[in-house]
Amino acid sequence: MIVLGIETSCDETAAAIVTDKRDILSNVVLRQLEEHAVFGGVVPEIAARAHIDHLDNTIRIALEQANLRPNMVGAVAATCGPGLIGGVLVGMMTAKAMASALKVPFIAVNHLEAHALTPRLTSDLEFPYLILLVSGGHTQILVAEGVGQYKRWGTTLDDAAGECFDKSAKLMGLPYPGGPNIERMANNTKDAKQALEQFPLPRPMQHHKNYDFSFSGLKSAVRSHVESLSSASMVDKDIENLCFSLQMAISETLASRCARAIEKFKAAYGPQTLNPTLVVSGGVSANQTIRKTLENLCAKAGFRLSAPPPDLCTDNAAMVAWVGVERLRLGLTDPLTFKARPRWPLDPAAEPRHGAGVKA
Ligand code: KG4
Ligand code: ZN
Repeated sequence: MIVLGIETSCDETAAAIVTDKRDILSNVVLRQLEEHAVFGGVVPEIAARAHIDHLDNTIRIALEQANLRPNMVGAVAATCGPGLIGGVLVGMMTAKAMASALKVPFIAVNHLEAHALTPRLTSDLEFPYLILLVSGGHTQILVAEGVGQYKRWGTTLDDAAGECFDKSAKLMGLPYPGGPNIERMANNTKDAKQALEQFPLPRPMQHHKNYDFSFSGLKSAVRSHVESLSSASMVDKDIENLCFSLQMAISETLASRCARAIEKFKAAYGPQTLNPTLVVSGGVSANQTIRKTLENLCAKAGFRLSAPPPDLCTDNAAMVAWVGVERLRLGLTDPLTFKARPRWPLDPAAEPRHGAGVKA
């Protein structure tokens, strides 16, 4: 079975071909960095127009690289939410048109499920497993019980972890996307101890007896540090140290919440799970310090950490095509009348969280 996947929910225009044997025949990702750089973040209208300009060609290249003609595609899967609605519509309508012309099934993919199932594309992984989903728009702790079956245990009450990286980078004058740039600056720090002393930062929610996150206070603490140094006196070493301290604060915050979730998972699923696994997925999980911190946590807790390769953590269409494969196997296809969903929680039954800008 050969599935074409399409991803356009944020600022990546992406197309990929994946088989049910877990072969990624092509995986083309076009990042719209230059279009958004001057604004310091993604502008939805510009993103949607860029998807229109580039998606056809991206799909053509994906087919060429896979050595396939369009009529050899067995199904077309596209992200239909959650995300920036203009971009989502471009990808979804293109996928529907192709599925209709080729007379093959169309599969509407939840972008969050694509991140959640990626490790099943890259490794042997059985349900159930624990997931830390950390991206630019979401920070959630979930249990994957099966395809389309998720329990959301925790979410952010305000900003997502990726948003905290991006907004903090902007405060420090670093370009978008902030995460990779903060990681690069942090890696240049010469003296870790001094960096943490120079720029102490909080570990939000650490003592709360739940699985939720909050990152807006951390971003405000970064702002205070930046304002306390006049821009004239803020040298590279200061930025490196602040990036180091921020990366450490985010890593430790994510790990402490996961530590609680691991205990809950052991109690709830322990007896039926031979190889208990924490999956970390989403763009922020490309960060090496975060991976190492979670690896140490898992080693202590008797868990396995499963983290997709960094280029499958950030947005791509191979993960979308893979959801297509998983859903097709179960006979889960969608009608061409399917409506795009700007909000699409993985666990619709999860208790709502009351806070500004809640990411479900
Ligand atoms: O999953 P993703 O590509 O898009 C969304 O679905 O949001 O995640 C993008 C986020 C951005 O906030 C970006 O700064 C962050 O992932 N990110 C990183 C790294 N690479 C990407 N954050 C920290 N360290 C990285 N190396
Ligand atoms: Zn994503």
